[in-house]
Amino acid sequence: MLENPLMAGLGLPREPRPLTLVIFGASGDLTRRKLVPALFSLYLKGSIPGVRVVGFARRDWDTQKFRALVRGWLDSDDTPSASAEVKDAFASGVGFIKSSFEEAAGFGQIATDFARPANRVFYLATPPDSYHTIVEQLRTSGLSSQNGGFSRIIVEKPIGRDLQSARALNEQIARAFPEEQIYRIDHYLGKETVQNIMVMRFGNGIFEPVWNNRYVDHVQITMAETLGVGTRGGYYETAGAVRDMMQNHMLQLLSLVAMEPPVDLDANSIHEEKVKVLKSIAPIAGQRVATETVRGQYEKGIVEGVEVPGYRQETGVDPESTTETFAALRVYLESWRWAGVPFLLRTGKRLSRRTTEITLHFKRPPLLLFAERKPGATPPNELTFRIQPQEGITIGFNSKIPGPTTEMRTVNMDFSYGSAFGEELPEAYERLLLDAMLGDSTLYMRKDEVDSAWRFITEIINGWKESGRPAVSPYRAGSSGPDAAAALLGDPGRRWRRL
Ligand code: BG6
Repeated sequence: MLENPLMAGLGLPREPRPLTLVIFGASGDLTRRKLVPALFSLYLKGSIPGVRVVGFARRDWDTQKFRALVRGWLDSDDTPSASAEVKDAFASGVGFIKSSFEEAAGFGQIATDFARPANRVFYLATPPDSYHTIVEQLRTSGLSSQNGGFSRIIVEKPIGRDLQSARALNEQIARAFPEEQIYRIDHYLGKETVQNIMVMRFGNGIFEPVWNNRYVDHVQITMAETLGVGTRGGYYETAGAVRDMMQNHMLQLLSLVAMEPPVDLDANSIHEEKVKVLKSIAPIAGQRVATETVRGQYEKGIVEGVEVPGYRQETGVDPESTTETFAALRVYLESWRWAGVPFLLRTGKRLSRRTTEITLHFKRPPLLLFAERKPGATPPNELTFRIQPQEGITIGFNSKIPGPTTEMRTVNMDFSYGSAFGEELPEAYERLLLDAMLGDSTLYMRKDEVDSAWRFITEIINGWKESGRPAVSPYRAGSSGPDAAAALLGDPGRRWRRL
């Protein structure tokens, strides 16, 4: 049964049929840091009693060794706490196949050693250069076909590095798996606060009437990180902020905040509306990259009290690299609802504070009664989705300062998940893994979403390559990014939100 995620919690069953989950790249960071903790959390909640987890990697391990490793990972801080017995029980249930991705025998072993249950979910947690080989092996071994059960594949980003390579990869996966068996993951869609964007917009009557170009002056989407590239310098050099964050996470957030109400809550109705937003983005191509985009790169500085090196000094990074670690875009949507409203997107590493948020900045009232008395006295109202940290929603509006004058100040009305529900929010991967096992692709990306997002991003990357503009502006680690980003605001009354 296909279950609607927005209905979860309304008493519908959330337990997948018995299945084998094969993780390709089981020796990697993603498996240790995200997948195993998420699976363990689901296990603790009793959500996946019939799920068999099998690691698949070329590392010289066997099942005993893998079990011991998994058991050790369960003691890390990222993993929900539980008794030693419960951790032992989880770890002793995992399986392992040692094989390279080129060896057909390893894939044969999946079919023989884990013949039952016939339902299978494959997770590509490997570097993307292995995707091709694995998908081909799954096809030729027959594992991608649904013989008496289901067979699904979860694909991690990056899905390609431009429009052409993304299409080639999507086509290759499509030769092995039909679209309804493919789950393209964007972990941001698994975050509770991101799911709440739709509930907040379409589950209430008071917001939608003002959610358009008559009332909204502009929208800001910020994804600021304090982290640098860490050990991922090699990968990051080939990616940069636009490929790493904008093409996927930021455009997904943009589509959720700008989409029309779906006709239904099933996966396709939602994908349909999201893709319309992505298709409506006005291209930023050729010379326009110079005025509509900003790119930056961090230099050494102090982040959260610690001195950190510049990007060019990071391991695996070219000392003359021009890869952007900060990017900002001014995006317009060619749609009835949003024509003329700039969506200002920015993301960067090594900024002063870690924050992901979406803010709608409303137009000022038509008559500035109070501004006449004191210029600048009527700051615009703002509605902010705080995606992380301190997840919640804030509405900023003006209030009279108590006393004999009519002076006012912006005050906040705050909804905070922590205090409202008093529960820890589940990790994004937990929700996404469970959905894929249940056969619900609502929170995954459909092929045409990936395609439209890449079409837009590829034009920007090509524009940068051809024109060399705008130059990559250096910014100090621990700052709010390059000053050049202010140029995108356009109107002197607009400000980037303080980080
Ligand atoms: C990943 C990017 O997709 O998202 C990383 O590759 C980034 O560079 C990460 O750090 C941010 O995710 P989160 O959930 O920590 O905000």
